[in-house]
Amino acid sequence: MPASSTHRPPVNRDVPLVRRQALEGPYVLLTFRHPEVAAGARAGQFVMIKANTVSDPILRRPFSVMRVDPSEGAFTLFLKIVGPGSHALAELRTGEEAGCLGPLGQPFTAPPEDQEAVFVAGGYGIAPFVLFGEELGRAGRRARAFYGGRTAADLQLCDAFDGLGVPLVCATDDGSFGHRGRVTEAVAAHLDTRPGPVTLYGCGPDAMLHAVARLAERRGVPAQVSVDPWMGCGLGTCLGCVVPIRRPGEARPKYHCACTEGPVFDARDVVWP
Ligand SMILES: Cc1cc2nc3c(=O)[nH]c(=O)nc-3n(C[C@H](O)[C@H](O)[C@H](O)COP(=O)(O)OP(=O)(O)OC[C@H]3O[C@@H](n4cnc5c(N)ncnc54)[C@H](O)[C@@H]3O)c2cc1C
Ligand code: FES
Repeated sequence: MPASSTHRPPVNRDVPLVRRQALEGPYVLLTFRHPEVAAGARAGQFVMIKANTVSDPILRRPFSVMRVDPSEGAFTLFLKIVGPGSHALAELRTGEEAGCLGPLGQPFTAPPEDQEAVFVAGGYGIAPFVLFGEELGRAGRRARAFYGGRTAADLQLCDAFDGLGVPLVCATDDGSFGHRGRVTEAVAAHLDTRPGPVTLYGCGPDAMLHAVARLAERRGVPAQVSVDPWMGCGLGTCLGCVVPIRRPGEARPKYHCACTEGPVFDARDVVWP
């Protein structure tokens, strides 16, 4: 079930910022012009990107493609500003450029036709599911999203599924919005309603991904997770992003590059810490 191979080779180019939409807190939506990413990126794929306004040698950082608009030749990222790379991108003004390589990595694989796709997102992990919801909607498939954060301010994309026919359940640790508690508890409650065959898809913090994997194992349902390691190159050369994976029939885990062989893996194959 691991995702299928990337269809379009990555293209490296300087990309002008087309639009910037500040959200609450440290979150921002950024739209860049990059025709190849706009035409070819699939849900779960990412770009390595760095603002050209930064003169110090920080490396490009990985960000999931959240939305594409092939007619405009542009794609959108959902950024949480956490450090120098995301800060410099968020500070770009319209027309200023970033260096961008993409689309990269292996995308999510759609579930079989009779199955519902259940997205489980933590924080900025919601980004690839906006694109996935659009892809599945176009293919006439059913999807449902569970979106969790520490507090209501972490759930900045609650309206992203409007019009996509993807029901959304929110959860916050402090109960300030939606279900009080972990997002995986809300997913477990959904599975208790015996919704028929489902595939789980996880993107978010490691602890949440591990919880998704455990839930999938206990309930006997397939799951794909998008892992979130440090990435230096995005091309399989620096080996900074390796994760231990044990595929069926293998005696020992082997290290796989999340940038080229992931970031999406079958949850059963990931060796969790
Ligand atoms: C495949 C992939 C897709 C990603 N997609 C997105 C996305 O759509 N939106 C988004 O905002 N981010 C995304 N990230 C995470 C993003 O690449 C990192 O947060 C990146 O390090 C930010 O760079 P920076 O220079 O701003 O911060 P850094 O200097 O790299 O980090 C600053 C601080 O934040 C902490 N930090 C860095 N990364 C994380 C993390 N992942 N979780 C918790 N703390 C962290 C560091 O420990 C450090 O203290 C993705 C990562 C991967 C691997
Ligand atoms: S990020 Fe360099 S090998 Fe994956």
